[in-house]
Amino acid sequence: MMGLFTSKRFDTLDDLFVAQLDDLYDAEQQLTKALPKMARAADATPLKDAFEHHLEETKSQVNRLEQIFDLLGHEPKRETCEAMKGLINEGEELVQAKGDPAVKDAGLIAAAQRVEHYEIAGYGTARALASRLGLDRAATLLQHTLDEEAAADRHLTQVAESYANDQAALA
Ligand SMILES: [Fe+2]
Repeated sequence: MMGLFTSKRFDTLDDLFVAQLDDLYDAEQQLTKALPKMARAADATPLKDAFEHHLEETKSQVNRLEQIFDLLGHEPKRETCEAMKGLINEGEELVQAKGDPAVKDAGLIAAAQRVEHYEIAGYGTARALASRLGLDRAATLLQHTLDEEAAADRHLTQVAESYANDQAALA
């Protein structure tokens, strides 16, 4: 969510919409820096691939937000999304951690899925606001990203499950 200790005014849904977009924009940019580290830290190839694939998607998502800012004639405010910063810090703990690579991978997946769920919440709200404001093009772009985030989350669940099955087969 928004940076701490800032006071702003929300008089209209447009104000709220734009603030939500600014927040998502910073969150996505933080994520483009974190995902390469997570990909390097991942041990299993499917997990590395998942992070690398989602990095490319995340770059497109940044681009989609920029398209919406253009449509609105809004200059995005770079204000730290504290929630994403916290989620990434928790992921960073796993990136730095020592120990069993499979257990670390499971931890990286857990951290990444928290990120996806956070983004799904943010984009769900932003898409709903865009629809209410009659901003159809923005709503379509946001829905596209929302679908990608949901797919990324499902994919991580599949990677986690296939991993768990491999481990069981070895036992
Ligand atoms: Fe994203």
